[in-house]
Amino acid sequence: MRAARQGKPAAGGVALLVALAVWLLPAVARAQLRVGFYDTTCPNAEALVRQAVAAAFARDAGTAAGLIRLHFHDCFVRGCDASVLLTVNPGGGQTERDAAPNNPSLRGFDVIDAAKAAVEQSCPRTVSCADIVAFAARDSAALTGSVSYQVPAGRRDGHVSNASDTVDLPPPTSTAKELTDLFAAKNLSVEDMVVLSGAHTVGRSFCESFVDRVWNRSAKPPAAIVDAGLSSSYASLLRALCPSNTTRATPITTAMDPGTPNVLDNNYYKLLPRGMGLFFSDNQLRVDTAMAALVSSFAANETLWKEKFAAAMVKMGRIQVQTGTCGEVRLNCSVVNPSSSTIELGSSAPAADEDGGVATS
Ligand code: HEM
Repeated sequence: MRAARQGKPAAGGVALLVALAVWLLPAVARAQLRVGFYDTTCPNAEALVRQAVAAAFARDAGTAAGLIRLHFHDCFVRGCDASVLLTVNPGGGQTERDAAPNNPSLRGFDVIDAAKAAVEQSCPRTVSCADIVAFAARDSAALTGSVSYQVPAGRRDGHVSNASDTVDLPPPTSTAKELTDLFAAKNLSVEDMVVLSGAHTVGRSFCESFVDRVWNRSAKPPAAIVDAGLSSSYASLLRALCPSNTTRATPITTAMDPGTPNVLDNNYYKLLPRGMGLFFSDNQLRVDTAMAALVSSFAANETLWKEKFAAAMVKMGRIQVQTGTCGEVRLNCSVVNPSSSTIELGSSAPAADEDGGVATS
């Protein structure tokens, strides 16, 4: 007792502290996201993001597809940390945003900026850009497909964005094995991959992503071809649209689901067996037996697919997240905060997350 009074904890006290630290450590280390993270610190955060997405969607319905893809491209590269939004790499060199998988095709940055501006005005320095991206993707799925789900939040924004890290994103030339491996590297199953690929029922693609399926560009002169898995009539349409000298900068795009490009439905799975999967990678889902079985079940049951899509989006949104005191809450989603300003993510007292851990915010 005397030792404790003199400022030195007694042996029993030390043991208690150690036990407490050991007990807390795993929870802190696995601090997780939770639904309603901003309920006390910024109760209208999700509504403000929803408004920004709805306004952009009213101007251009394609924005929704862009925002769903933005979340995917954020999460697959360094985790869901808004690294895809950075325009400057603090370490120098090109950012993710500059890299071929994102430039020029990725869109929706302006919507995230508008949402962030609204949220900052309402509750400064509180809501991370990574969470805004996740909310915006969810709102886009709701607007295009009445798919509704709750987004566990509490992500922190990263400090790093390297163009070279975009190798984690699957290119449209991926084989079934490559798709499986790239998703497995993010702790996503083959079923998750097939489910999430259904997002290709909305949005568009630039010619460069599929032109080699309809033109042999190394032949002199370039020769018309029809890649296996592509219907010849669809190939003719694509060839008429995309010149053989297409480059990444060629500003021609086509809807991936020509029938209902702005509706998040199960049409993607119906188009695949008809030879209308736009990318080589899309067609791999019907070449691989296990994937093809999933494709058939989702083609037959849209409700099932939507339920699984919502769950898979939540799972994707958990990839390598930074929480607690890791990372930061960026003030401007395009640049990291000046190093002098350390900003803590506003939140109430630690609360149990969905997995029973403790959120360390
Ligand atoms: C399975 C592997 C995937 C591959 C190989 C792939 C590839 C691509 C490519 C090449 C494009 C067109 C880019 C361009 O304009 O040139 C695209 C568009 C798109 N992707 Fe994927 N993707 C995959 C998975 C996903 C996932 C998991 C999601 C979301 C959950 C997604 C959502 C989208 C959306 C919504 C678009 C349209 C974007 C827009 O209209 O702006 N994709 N994808």
